Amino acid sequence: MASSKNYDIKDPTLAETGRRRIDWAHREMPVLELIRDRFAREKPLSGIRIAACLHITTETANLALTLQAGGADTILCASNPLSTQDDVAAALVEYGIPTNAIKGEDSATYYEHISTALETEPEITVDDGADLVITLHTKQEGLIGNIIGGTEETTTGVVRLRSMEKSGDLKYPIIAVNDAQTKYLFDNRYGTGQSTIDGITRATNVLWAGKKVVICGYGWCGRGIAMRAKGLGAHIILTEVEPVRALEAVMDGYQVMPLMEAARIGDIFITISGNKNVIDKAHLQAMKDGALLANSGHFNVEINIPALESLSRSRKEARPFVEEFTLSDGRRLFLLGEGRLINLAAAEGHPASVMDMSFANQALCMEYMVKNRGTLETRVYPVPTEIDKQVARLKLDAMGISIDALTPEQERYLRSWQEGT
Ligand SMILES: NC(=O)c1ccc[n+]([C@@H]2O[C@H](COP(=O)([O-])OP(=O)(O)OC[C@H]3O[C@@H](n4cnc5c(N)ncnc54)[C@H](O)[C@@H]3O)[C@@H](O)[C@H]2O)c1
Repeated sequence: MASSKNYDIKDPTLAETGRRRIDWAHREMPVLELIRDRFAREKPLSGIRIAACLHITTETANLALTLQAGGADTILCASNPLSTQDDVAAALVEYGIPTNAIKGEDSATYYEHISTALETEPEITVDDGADLVITLHTKQEGLIGNIIGGTEETTTGVVRLRSMEKSGDLKYPIIAVNDAQTKYLFDNRYGTGQSTIDGITRATNVLWAGKKVVICGYGWCGRGIAMRAKGLGAHIILTEVEPVRALEAVMDGYQVMPLMEAARIGDIFITISGNKNVIDKAHLQAMKDGALLANSGHFNVEINIPALESLSRSRKEARPFVEEFTLSDGRRLFLLGEGRLINLAAAEGHPASVMDMSFANQALCMEYMVKNRGTLETRVYPVPTEIDKQVARLKLDAMGISIDALTPEQERYLRSWQEGT
């Protein structure tokens, strides 16, 4: 049991439910299981103090148990105030992993939880959105000397950390786990694709068929959401700011237009851009009565919520995770999950099978950092290619799928330049 000083959860009696759900996720995480078994034998993280700021879900619990098997002392805090699964937090504390996370915590508690994690003087930071790393750099600079390195799980966090690197403010090495192919091609695309639809459906029970769904951002997540919503019979409209991405969306068969035009016709709006005020006041003013507004990007800044509040004469809860805003002319707009990532606010986040790969990368990158301690420079590194490929190979093995290998002749051919027409 974690000591009473270093954890803060909603309700310890939820532990049994949490444990059952963690076991259920574990069944879909064979790659992480292989790593956990090896870590238990080899103890590559022996005595290493890890502070991890992640969504407290069943999948994260399986990562934390893997780090524990590897000999690490891990403390967890939430990477979003609304994504915590309280039963999982309770089970983690029973497993001896101090966890500081309560679903619906306010901003002050969110940062208190981050501070508690930092009090353990971590040697490795694991972040999802970079709030932990940035708090460490701005409020606890004295702790930086202990740090071997950190990992970052999501696009927005990598963007923030690259900005810190560029301005010379980053003070220790980071591995951008998000940028592994076995992460973004699967987690961001298929994970966010499925779970965003799941979150909106659970919150509203809306029928997707025939709806005009406006998706803001055609990155890896946006592609997944568009693909899955299309599969449910929705009419997809994409908005973008990057011409190549917009062109891809057009050739993938979607309608592309400026958001100001889409605002007038959309039934469901989903922001997934990693950017701020993407749905702004003018867009809100143009929307139809009854439009649903959801965000699946990392921060709750993609929909201009203060503008929505200022345009509204009243607001009320329509159902859990759905808030009805009545504008001055009587139109109603429905904001889902407080504009926070809807897949984690109103559903369970990504399915375990994709988090298996993301978190296998996390565990292997932490091992890599400990092995290479002291030799890494202060910058944002990509995931080593060997790790990325290893994760893909192990996942294929676990799925019982084998692939071909290059013949010696093919290897020679691919290395040569002499053979042409
Ligand atoms: N909900 C989740 O579980 C989950 C999972 C993974 C990533 N994320 C988050 O989702 C966001 C997107 O991630 P990604 O990997 O798809 O990023 P990405 O960089 O691949 O794509 C973002 C896209 O949004 C576009 N964009 C930026 N500003 C825009 C604007 N004003 N209007 C329209 N489009 C705009 C960019 O041009 C880009 O194509 C990030 O915040 C990331 O951290 C959430």
